Amino acid sequence: SNGASVPALIIGTGYGGSVAALRLAQAGVPVEMVEMGMTWDTPGSDGKIFPKVTAPDKRAYWLRTKSKAPVSNFFGFPIDSDIPRYTGVLDAEEFAGITVYQGRGVGGGSLVNGGMAVTPKRTRFAGILPSVDANEMYDTYYPRANAGLGVGQIDATWFESADCYQYARVGRKHAQRSGFAWTFVPDVYDWNYMKAEQAGTVPRSALDGQVMYGNDYGKKSLVQTYLAQALATGRVNVSSLHKVTSVTPASGGGYTVTIDQINTNGDTVATKTVTAAKVFFAAGSVGTSKLLVKLKATGALPLLNNEVGKGWGDNGNVMCGRANHMWDPTGTLQSTIPCSGIDNWDAGGAFAEVAPLPTGIETYASLYLSITNTTRRAEFTWNAAANKVDLSWQTAWKQDSINMAKSIFDKINSKEGTIYRTDLFGGYKIWQDGLTYHPLGGVVLNKATDNYGRLQGYDGLYAIDGSLIPGNTTVNPFVTITALAERNIDNILANDPM
Ligand code: FDA
Repeated sequence: SNGASVPALIIGTGYGGSVAALRLAQAGVPVEMVEMGMTWDTPGSDGKIFPKVTAPDKRAYWLRTKSKAPVSNFFGFPIDSDIPRYTGVLDAEEFAGITVYQGRGVGGGSLVNGGMAVTPKRTRFAGILPSVDANEMYDTYYPRANAGLGVGQIDATWFESADCYQYARVGRKHAQRSGFAWTFVPDVYDWNYMKAEQAGTVPRSALDGQVMYGNDYGKKSLVQTYLAQALATGRVNVSSLHKVTSVTPASGGGYTVTIDQINTNGDTVATKTVTAAKVFFAAGSVGTSKLLVKLKATGALPLLNNEVGKGWGDNGNVMCGRANHMWDPTGTLQSTIPCSGIDNWDAGGAFAEVAPLPTGIETYASLYLSITNTTRRAEFTWNAAANKVDLSWQTAWKQDSINMAKSIFDKINSKEGTIYRTDLFGGYKIWQDGLTYHPLGGVVLNKATDNYGRLQGYDGLYAIDGSLIPGNTTVNPFVTITALAERNIDNILANDPM
């Protein structure tokens, strides 16, 4: 509450924030979590907390008046629709060269994501976080993160017969016929629940088109895992619809944190200040970078170093679709939870997920999200004239990623005698090159911070989210974000008096 003094304040309730909250609380430290999005626990008039991916309503988008779906067109028809402005669960945040999709709400990105929970290959780790001891990560922190998140793998026998994964079996067939390594991808979705969905014995979520705007059932988001455990300690308080706008040293020690309470229209209804001995920035790669760049430039935290804002990447995300022959239907029932990928990282720089297109009708389309080994990195800077933070990413940089993804799909198309879809992303576009789901970096570990996330220049300020990772994880990022947070909070609790 306004005027309070707290030992530890965490900005954001995604992966980094939830790990920090649990471990601090377990160590006996009372924790205040501040989250700009809503608490998603109340069903709407349709009985569901979240809308389907094919029918976005106000719950779907963060303060937009029109939806902005990544697959924007279908057979030439634009599918985006007008929606009431609301503090919905998915933010399609637009910068000059890229739209960055992010989760908003208690649970952060875990509310909206596909739950793909991938530990990078150990041989690739040195390229991801060069200053981090790989042995520690693979012996202790990746296992801890996987356990804490509830990561599981699909039953390989069930996979062969499940209607809802016909699209993935077609993806496998085409990958293998072209000589590519195809692998199952672990996920935090409850695979037994999905079996029951397919059997028709429970309410459907993954099999009812729910993903990206939230899942009512089946998915173990942070609300079911780390946050539930943190709240069970009795030492954690979460304030939703509260947005941190400033952090600056307090005269008596610690930090003054300024917080806007907002309503579901996004308007500020109250402004509060809290004094915190320690502040953990866990607002996500974009949220943490934007805050710190602004606070450095505007004089609230002038001693932050010049690495703040640098080293941001898009994890090389690029999407495409292929048109299959009539004898390769992908199925009318598609699980929204991808379960497999094509690994051509070492030879071609791309790891492609076989993604669903859950329209309810046969599309003969195979959709893919590729993660690629691009070296492009952008920088956040303070734009004083416009009073906002800009990002220097250029759309043209995605050509690197497209070329890497083509190392897989040109070959598959030539082998299968098929073509790319041109109707999915608008304007006869083959490649969705305007977005990322995987923002990473901006407050890079061992550069803007020490090797454990302590911000340079200020005792008691930490970054503990995706902003620490310099732009790429070779696979989907949240397991690495979680494992790194586990590692860093261990070191912080051992060395910094709380
Ligand atoms: P995260 O973004 O989770 O949390 C930050 C939180 O801080 C948010 O809740 C935000 O509202 C809040 N916040 C921001 N600024 C604030 C402020 N000023 N004050 C208060 N609160 C503030 N990854 C993966 O590994 N597998 C997958 O399958 C997918 N799929 C996927 C699909 C979609 C549609 C998206 C958008 C993303 C994914 N991801 C993914 C990415 C994954 O969700 C993402 O990498 C993590 O959520 C990032 O975790 P962080 O802890 O860094 O921040």
